[in-house]
Amino acid sequence: MIIAVDGPTASGKGTIARALAAHFGLPHLDTGLLYRAVGRQCSLNHGNADDPQDALLACDFPDSLLRDPELRSERSGGLASRVSVHPAVRQALFDRQRTFALQPGGAVLDGRDIGTVIAPEADVKLFVVASVPARAERRFREMQEQGRAVSLAEIAADLEARDARDRSRAEAPLVAAADAVMLDTSDLDREAAIAFAIRIADTLRH
Ligand code: DC
Repeated sequence: MIIAVDGPTASGKGTIARALAAHFGLPHLDTGLLYRAVGRQCSLNHGNADDPQDALLACDFPDSLLRDPELRSERSGGLASRVSVHPAVRQALFDRQRTFALQPGGAVLDGRDIGTVIAPEADVKLFVVASVPARAERRFREMQEQGRAVSLAEIAADLEARDARDRSRAEAPLVAAADAVMLDTSDLDREAAIAFAIRIADTLRH
Protein backbone atom coordinates (compact mmCIF):
# COMPACT_ATOMS: atom_id res chain seq x y z
CA MET A 1 0.00 0.00 0.00
CA ILE A 2 1.33 3.43 -0.98
CA ILE A 3 0.01 6.43 0.96
CA ALA A 4 0.64 9.91 -0.49
CA VAL A 5 0.17 12.89 1.85
CA ASP A 6 0.52 16.28 0.16
CA GLY A 7 -0.20 19.82 1.27
CA PRO A 8 1.28 23.21 2.07
CA THR A 9 3.73 24.01 4.82
CA ALA A 10 2.45 23.72 8.44
CA SER A 11 -0.82 22.10 7.30
CA GLY A 12 -0.20 19.12 9.57
CA LYS A 13 0.77 16.75 6.73
CA GLY A 14 4.02 15.63 8.43
CA THR A 15 2.26 14.75 11.69
CA ILE A 16 -0.47 12.90 9.78
CA ALA A 17 2.02 11.02 7.58
CA ARG A 18 4.06 9.87 10.60
CA ALA A 19 0.91 8.74 12.41
CA LEU A 20 -0.34 6.81 9.36
CA ALA A 21 3.05 5.13 8.99
CA ALA A 22 3.01 4.07 12.66
CA HIS A 23 -0.61 2.88 12.45
CA PHE A 24 -0.13 0.75 9.31
CA GLY A 25 3.44 -0.30 10.13
CA LEU A 26 4.88 1.31 6.99
CA PRO A 27 8.17 3.17 6.43
CA HIS A 28 7.84 6.94 6.06
CA LEU A 29 9.73 9.49 3.94
CA ASP A 30 9.48 13.23 4.57
CA THR A 31 10.37 14.39 1.04
CA GLY A 32 10.56 18.05 2.11
CA LEU A 33 13.68 17.08 4.04
CA LEU A 34 15.42 16.16 0.75
CA TYR A 35 14.69 19.62 -0.70
CA ARG A 36 15.77 21.22 2.59
CA ALA A 37 19.07 19.30 2.39
CA VAL A 38 19.63 20.59 -1.16
CA GLY A 39 18.92 24.15 -0.01
CA ARG A 40 21.27 23.80 2.95
CA GLN A 41 24.03 22.22 0.84
CA CYS A 42 23.67 25.03 -1.70
CA SER A 43 24.16 27.55 1.08
CA LEU A 44 27.19 25.60 2.45
CA ASN A 45 28.63 25.70 -1.10
CA HIS A 46 28.10 29.50 -1.11
CA GLY A 47 25.82 28.92 -4.10
CA ASN A 48 22.71 30.83 -5.13
CA ALA A 49 19.49 28.83 -4.57
CA ASP A 50 17.85 30.61 -7.52
CA ASP A 51 20.59 29.49 -9.91
CA PRO A 52 19.72 26.12 -11.53
CA GLN A 53 23.34 24.99 -11.78
CA ASP A 54 24.23 25.87 -8.18
CA ALA A 55 21.06 24.12 -7.00
CA LEU A 56 21.76 21.00 -9.08
CA LEU A 57 25.34 20.77 -7.72
CA ALA A 58 23.87 20.81 -4.21
CA CYS A 59 21.81 17.66 -4.91
CA ASP A 60 25.03 15.79 -4.24
CA PHE A 61 24.67 16.26 -0.48
CA PRO A 62 25.96 13.66 2.02
CA ASP A 63 23.27 11.53 3.76
CA SER A 64 24.54 12.77 7.12
CA LEU A 65 23.15 16.21 6.22
CA LEU A 66 19.61 14.78 6.56
CA ARG A 67 20.20 14.61 10.33
CA ASP A 68 21.25 18.27 10.64
CA PRO A 69 18.79 20.07 13.00
CA GLU A 70 19.30 23.24 10.96
CA LEU A 71 17.15 21.64 8.22
CA ARG A 72 14.08 22.25 10.41
CA SER A 73 14.56 26.02 10.44
CA GLU A 74 12.39 28.50 8.53
CA ARG A 75 15.52 29.58 6.67
CA SER A 76 16.05 26.05 5.33
CA GLY A 77 12.34 25.84 4.41
CA GLY A 78 12.66 29.00 2.34
CA LEU A 79 15.84 27.76 0.64
CA ALA A 80 14.14 24.41 -0.06
CA SER A 81 11.22 26.18 -1.70
CA ARG A 82 13.65 28.14 -3.92
CA VAL A 83 15.77 25.16 -5.08
CA SER A 84 12.63 23.07 -5.64
CA VAL A 85 11.47 25.20 -8.59
CA HIS A 86 14.34 23.93 -10.78
CA PRO A 87 13.25 20.93 -12.91
CA ALA A 88 16.79 19.46 -12.79
CA VAL A 89 16.66 19.38 -8.98
CA ARG A 90 13.26 17.64 -9.00
CA GLN A 91 14.62 15.13 -11.53
CA ALA A 92 17.73 14.48 -9.42
CA LEU A 93 15.57 13.66 -6.37
CA PHE A 94 12.97 11.64 -8.30
CA ASP A 95 14.56 8.14 -8.26
CA ARG A 96 15.22 8.20 -4.55
CA GLN A 97 11.58 9.04 -3.79
CA ARG A 98 10.16 6.64 -6.40
CA THR A 99 12.30 3.75 -5.11
CA PHE A 100 11.12 4.47 -1.58
CA ALA A 101 7.48 4.48 -2.71
CA LEU A 102 7.83 1.16 -4.55
CA GLN A 103 9.48 -0.86 -1.79
CA PRO A 104 7.76 -4.18 -1.11
CA GLY A 105 5.04 -3.81 1.50
CA GLY A 106 4.42 -0.16 0.73
CA ALA A 107 5.29 3.22 2.17
CA VAL A 108 4.01 6.60 3.30
CA LEU A 109 5.49 9.70 1.66
CA ASP A 110 4.64 13.30 2.40
CA GLY A 111 5.40 16.34 0.27
CA ARG A 112 3.88 18.48 -2.46
CA ASP A 113 3.77 16.23 -5.55
CA ILE A 114 3.59 12.67 -4.21
CA GLY A 115 0.07 11.96 -5.47
CA THR A 116 0.63 13.77 -8.78
CA VAL A 117 4.23 12.97 -9.83
CA ILE A 118 6.13 10.61 -7.52
CA ALA A 119 3.42 7.97 -6.97
CA PRO A 120 0.34 8.77 -9.09
CA GLU A 121 -0.80 5.17 -8.54
CA ALA A 122 -0.88 5.57 -4.73
CA ASP A 123 -3.72 3.64 -3.07
CA VAL A 124 -4.46 6.48 -0.67
CA LYS A 125 -4.01 10.18 -1.51
CA LEU A 126 -4.62 12.83 1.09
CA PHE A 127 -4.36 16.57 0.48
CA VAL A 128 -4.01 18.27 3.85
CA VAL A 129 -4.93 21.94 4.09
CA ALA A 130 -5.52 24.50 6.85
CA SER A 131 -6.24 28.23 6.91
CA VAL A 132 -3.30 30.66 7.01
CA PRO A 133 -4.22 31.89 10.55
CA ALA A 134 -4.40 28.29 11.85
CA ARG A 135 -1.04 27.38 10.29
CA ALA A 136 0.63 30.60 11.43
CA GLU A 137 -0.61 30.02 14.98
CA ARG A 138 0.85 26.47 15.03
CA ARG A 139 4.21 27.67 13.70
CA PHE A 140 4.18 30.51 16.22
CA ARG A 141 3.68 28.10 19.12
CA GLU A 142 6.44 25.77 17.82
CA MET A 143 8.83 28.70 17.61
CA GLN A 144 7.93 29.95 21.07
CA GLU A 145 8.70 26.48 22.43
CA GLN A 146 12.10 26.69 20.73
CA GLY A 147 12.63 30.10 22.34
CA ARG A 148 12.63 32.00 19.04
CA ALA A 149 11.12 35.45 18.85
CA VAL A 150 9.17 35.96 15.62
CA SER A 151 5.88 37.85 15.22
CA LEU A 152 2.70 36.11 14.15
CA ALA A 153 2.33 38.56 11.24
CA GLU A 154 5.86 37.77 10.02
CA ILE A 155 5.15 34.02 10.12
CA ALA A 156 1.87 34.44 8.21
CA ALA A 157 3.62 36.54 5.53
CA ASP A 158 6.38 33.89 5.16
CA LEU A 159 3.81 31.09 4.85
CA GLU A 160 1.91 32.94 2.15
CA ALA A 161 5.08 33.72 0.19
CA ARG A 162 6.15 30.06 0.31
CA ASP A 163 2.65 28.85 -0.69
CA ALA A 164 2.59 31.24 -3.64
CA ARG A 165 5.99 30.00 -4.88
CA ASP A 166 5.12 26.30 -4.39
CA ARG A 167 1.75 26.71 -6.15
CA SER A 168 2.90 28.81 -9.09
CA ARG A 169 6.05 26.96 -10.18
CA ALA A 170 5.90 25.42 -13.65
CA GLU A 171 7.21 21.98 -12.67
CA ALA A 172 5.20 19.78 -10.27
CA PRO A 173 3.40 22.63 -8.48
CA LEU A 174 1.59 22.16 -5.21
CA VAL A 175 -1.84 20.99 -6.36
CA ALA A 176 -4.24 18.31 -5.18
CA ALA A 177 -4.44 15.20 -7.38
CA ALA A 178 -7.89 14.82 -8.95
CA ASP A 179 -8.47 11.68 -6.86
CA ALA A 180 -7.08 13.05 -3.57
CA VAL A 181 -9.25 13.36 -0.48
CA MET A 182 -9.13 16.84 1.10
CA LEU A 183 -8.53 17.02 4.82
CA ASP A 184 -8.91 20.49 6.36
CA THR A 185 -7.21 20.54 9.76
CA SER A 186 -7.97 24.22 10.61
CA ASP A 187 -10.42 23.33 13.36
CA LEU A 188 -9.07 19.91 14.31
CA ASP A 189 -6.61 19.12 17.06
CA ARG A 190 -3.77 16.68 16.44
CA GLU A 191 -5.67 13.57 17.62
CA ALA A 192 -8.82 14.39 15.64
CA ALA A 193 -6.83 15.04 12.45
CA ILE A 194 -4.98 11.72 12.82
CA ALA A 195 -8.21 9.80 13.51
CA PHE A 196 -9.78 11.30 10.38
CA ALA A 197 -6.77 10.40 8.24
CA ILE A 198 -6.73 6.80 9.49
CA ARG A 199 -10.44 6.46 8.77
CA ILE A 200 -9.99 7.80 5.21
CA ALA A 201 -7.00 5.51 4.57
CA ASP A 202 -8.89 2.50 5.90
CA THR A 203 -11.83 3.20 3.61
CA LEU A 204 -9.71 3.83 0.50
CA ARG A 205 -7.33 0.91 0.76
CA HIS A 206 -10.07 -1.72 0.39
O1 DC B 1 7.38 20.17 3.47
P1 DC B 1 8.51 21.17 3.73
O2 DC B 1 8.05 22.45 4.35
O3 DC B 1 9.64 20.54 4.50
O4 DC B 1 9.08 21.51 2.26
C1 DC B 1 10.04 22.51 2.06
C2 DC B 1 9.99 22.97 0.60
O5 DC B 1 10.44 21.92 -0.26
C3 DC B 1 8.62 23.36 0.09
O6 DC B 1 8.36 24.75 0.32
C4 DC B 1 8.66 23.01 -1.38
C5 DC B 1 9.68 21.91 -1.48
N1 DC B 1 9.10 20.57 -1.67
C6 DC B 1 8.74 20.21 -2.95
O7 DC B 1 8.86 21.04 -3.86
N2 DC B 1 8.26 18.97 -3.21
C7 DC B 1 8.11 18.06 -2.22
N3 DC B 1 7.65 16.84 -2.50
C8 DC B 1 8.44 18.42 -0.88
C9 DC B 1 8.93 19.70 -0.64
